[in-house]
Amino acid sequence: MTDRYGVIGHPIAHSKSPVIHNLFASQTDQDISYEAFDIAPEVLSTNLYKLIDDGIKGLNVTVPLKNDVAELMNDLSDRALVSGAVNTVEVKDGKLTGDNTDGVGLIRDLHDNLELQLENSAILILGAGGATRGIVPALLETGPAKIQIANRTLEKSKDLVTQFSSLGDISACRFDELGAESFDLIINATSAGLDGETPPFPASIINADVVCYDLSYAMTDTPFTTWAKQNGATKVHQGWGMLVEQAAESFFIWRGVRPDTGPVRTRLP
Ligand code: ATR
Repeated sequence: MTDRYGVIGHPIAHSKSPVIHNLFASQTDQDISYEAFDIAPEVLSTNLYKLIDDGIKGLNVTVPLKNDVAELMNDLSDRALVSGAVNTVEVKDGKLTGDNTDGVGLIRDLHDNLELQLENSAILILGAGGATRGIVPALLETGPAKIQIANRTLEKSKDLVTQFSSLGDISACRFDELGAESFDLIINATSAGLDGETPPFPASIINADVVCYDLSYAMTDTPFTTWAKQNGATKVHQGWGMLVEQAAESFFIWRGVRPDTGPVRTRLP
């Protein structure tokens, strides 16, 4: 019998997850279906339990439901617990287990696909919201020399430093304190610029050697990748690879089979 899976979020119409998982399924001969479900936060629990009653075997979770879904799980993996967010739900015997594959998805893209050396590197993360919380533990595990978190609201980056300082060298600052030192990798984890304004980061953080990675992705350049290129960056990437890699990890959790992400990455965007 075909096993049903899906992605929930709001809005969800433009999600690439159905395309990605259907490509994984045909590549690995897995008999599954995968659909997108638009669920508003106000009706999350009712609609989630309805999907479970209907026999769904697993779900991906996207904006803005990742934190709320975590509250509804019977069990959380360590990486979901630490980030407080769930992007993958596995349903077994009526019990819901929440996991978070965003961090490992980012590392696979940076390390395996883009072949970046993360060990001993200096990493700057712009933003201190849910996306940052999801990736910091996985980045610290790779053994960077340091991670600096710069955020508009300093308190939020300081909170992350308090939470994660036992895992490695991590510090917090505001955007206007940046510029004196250079980084090997800059990750944009803010939603700044998406409203049409220029991203509020100092141009002095950019040079021709630094790798700029936007967790967001778009059919053309994102506000951050446009800004980075305009300021002299030459190694600029969007989060398409991370999207495919986090999906592959979810697929592995559900099916026990690891798809080859290469052919799928070349199909996107
Ligand atoms: P996500 O789950 O995608 O991380 P979030 O938790 O709402 O979403 O976090 C959004 C991040 O983008 C935050 O770091 C936010 O900065 P604040 O903590 O100061 O709110 C950042 N952000 C959003 N709009 C921004 C803007 N116009 N300028 C600078 N930072 C912005």
